[in-house]
Amino acid sequence: MKIFIDTANLDEIGEITSWGIIDGVTTNPTLLSREVERIGKNPEDILKEICNMVKGPVSAEVTSTDTSGIIDDGKKLRELAENICIKVPICKEGLLAIRKLRDEDIMTNTTLVFSANQALLAAKAGTNLVSPFIGRMDDVGNEGMEIVGQLVTIFDNYCMDTEVVVASVRHPMHIIEAAIIGADICTVPYNVILKMLNHPLTDVGIERFLKDWGKIKPK
Ligand code: G3P
Repeated sequence: MKIFIDTANLDEIGEITSWGIIDGVTTNPTLLSREVERIGKNPEDILKEICNMVKGPVSAEVTSTDTSGIIDDGKKLRELAENICIKVPICKEGLLAIRKLRDEDIMTNTTLVFSANQALLAAKAGTNLVSPFIGRMDDVGNEGMEIVGQLVTIFDNYCMDTEVVVASVRHPMHIIEAAIIGADICTVPYNVILKMLNHPLTDVGIERFLKDWGKIKPK
């Protein structure tokens, strides 16, 4: 399973990409506006920097709501870097834009997906990635991970090349469940990546080993 980092924070991306475990980045208008406010750069420059920091796809979202606006936004974003992937919210206007962008070899990530039917339509329109928002579904009392299982099965049944991005990840169990189901990609916030790494028993173990070693170490 590929791991993307779900953030526009340049410090977080710099730190985690240095570990050599990151296959891509996802942003959205909320994450990008947070970084603009934090460091005072413009969104295009931030996206360009992110694209230079990672080899894999960097998702950047359109903000127009009509088809031609979405296509124009997508083309402008694509000019920023080769590895930009255009995030398009699922809707009728978005579907039309996804087909057009695919025809022009521009990669898309269909976002704000909350049902397998929405994802199936996006895949038929030619999207490269679909992003079901697991955490937001859990928040309203649905079992978010169910849709991931449905999508992995559906795309596999028909050999569709659309990849499933598990998004809106809130805790480490989401990642384990996604990997067991066979999701292609999990996009994980910085704080959750740290939680994947840390375990209190590891800390206690290191401390105890070092203490015991200290007892016999020559002075
Ligand atoms: O990748 C989608 C993600 O950014 C949304 O996460 O936590 O706002 O539901 P969240």
